[in-house]
Order: sequence, then C-alpha cells, then structure tokens
Amino acid sequence: MEMDTRVFADLDALSHAALNELLRIMQEAIDQRGRFAIALAGGRTPARLYSLWSHEQPMPWDRVHLFWGDERYVSQNDLLSNFRMVREALIAHVPIPPANVHPIPTDQPGPEQAAEAYESTLRAFFGAAAPALDLVLLGLGPEGHTASLFPDSPALGETKRLVVAVKAPANPPNRITFTPALLDLARNTFFLVSGADKRAIVAALRQESPAAANQFPAARIRPAGPVVWFLDRAACS
Ligand code: 6PG
Repeated sequence: MEMDTRVFADLDALSHAALNELLRIMQEAIDQRGRFAIALAGGRTPARLYSLWSHEQPMPWDRVHLFWGDERYVSQNDLLSNFRMVREALIAHVPIPPANVHPIPTDQPGPEQAAEAYESTLRAFFGAAAPALDLVLLGLGPEGHTASLFPDSPALGETKRLVVAVKAPANPPNRITFTPALLDLARNTFFLVSGADKRAIVAALRQESPAAANQFPAARIRPAGPVVWFLDRAACS
C-alpha cells in the first residue's frame, strides 16, 4: 500500500522530527480553532517524543488537550498504564491544567463502562462538531496492530461507537481503544515505528496491495487528513 514515509537514523532523530511536525500542527490548530486536541499512543516508542516535548518552552499548555488512543484496563499507577507512561515522560514536568488531561477512566467498574465514559468525554469535548482530533499518534505492533486494534478484532468493523472495550491477544488483555470510525476523522495522523522487530511488518505493509494489506489493522485506518509514517532505519530494510 502507499505510505508517506520519513526515515530517520534512529529513535532520537525520529522523535525530534515528529515533535517539529507536532508543534507545527499544534500552532495551526490553535490559530484556527483556539485549541489543540491530540490523542497519544502507548507502548515504548513515543516516550522519547513526550520527553522532548516536556522541554519545549514557551508552550501554550492551557490550549493543549491530551487524550489517549488506547489504554490497558489497569490502574493509573500500574507499570503497564499508558497514562502513567505519559505522566512520567511529560505531564509531571509541564504546567498543563489538570482539566486539559483526559485519561481513559480505568477506575470504572469494567472496561465497557470505561469505554462508554470515554466516548461521552469525547462527545462533550467536541460538542456539536465531529470528534476530529487535530493529531492522532499511533504505534505499530509486529503483527500489524495499532492502538488496541488487533488482527481479526470485532472492533475493526465498528462503525458507530468511537471507543470500545476489547480483549487483546496481549498483556494485559483487557483494553479500551479508539475505533476506526474515530481514528478516520483525524485531521492528522502519525505512525511512530522504531526498531528491527518492526522491519517485517513495515515491509509487508509497503509491499501488499491495499486489499491484501487490510489483514493488518494499521492498514484499515484511512483518516480524512494526512497520514505520515515516521520510521527509523532499523524498522525499514
Ligand atoms: C499499546 C499501544 C500499541 C503500541 C504498539 C507499539 O498500548 O500497547 O498503544 O498499539 O503503540 O504496540 O508499541 P511499541 O512502541 O512499544 O513497539
């Protein structure tokens, strides 16, 4: 399938480049709509980007709204929590108003309730407008998963719900994820992909026809706005 790829020497260079683009999109969003709504990715790859962002000054943090594209159904202090990762890399170091931080509420009685509550949060935030995030950050799993959309997940066929609970073939299995219906509204999307363990899936995505690539959840995301793949050299042969 066709991919707009940018290749960098390593994760550090990739993260600097992604941050520059993020800041450009942020400024544009603030100029046009008065605020910047970003959905953050979990996993290990984006931590460097979050940490670099925490050192940027001055930064209009009162205009920045942080959302999460997926979360593991664990407490916010759990080592596996995507919220915790972002808190440690970014939130703890910057003066962002607490009301601008919108974590997926994993303190709900179950993952379904957490997904429903988060969908309400998003709908309230966007009001009458379509819930189009200014920027969605995504990762890529070795089998082609993105956010917590894994191959053959029923969530891939979801057309109405914005956020759903899923059972993932991963640790932990209970997760909450944006659906393709929501991801496809994004004004901008970045895939951040680093490391040799991603080489095979990146090659497969690039070589497959769009129809064949559909077996990989990452290829099922077809956002309205531009999609840029930030890769490091190790991830592409
Ligand atoms: C998660 C994710 C997931 C992640 C990929 C890539 O919560 O696990 O959001 O989709 O982005 O698994 O993860 P790495 O960056 O750790 O390779």
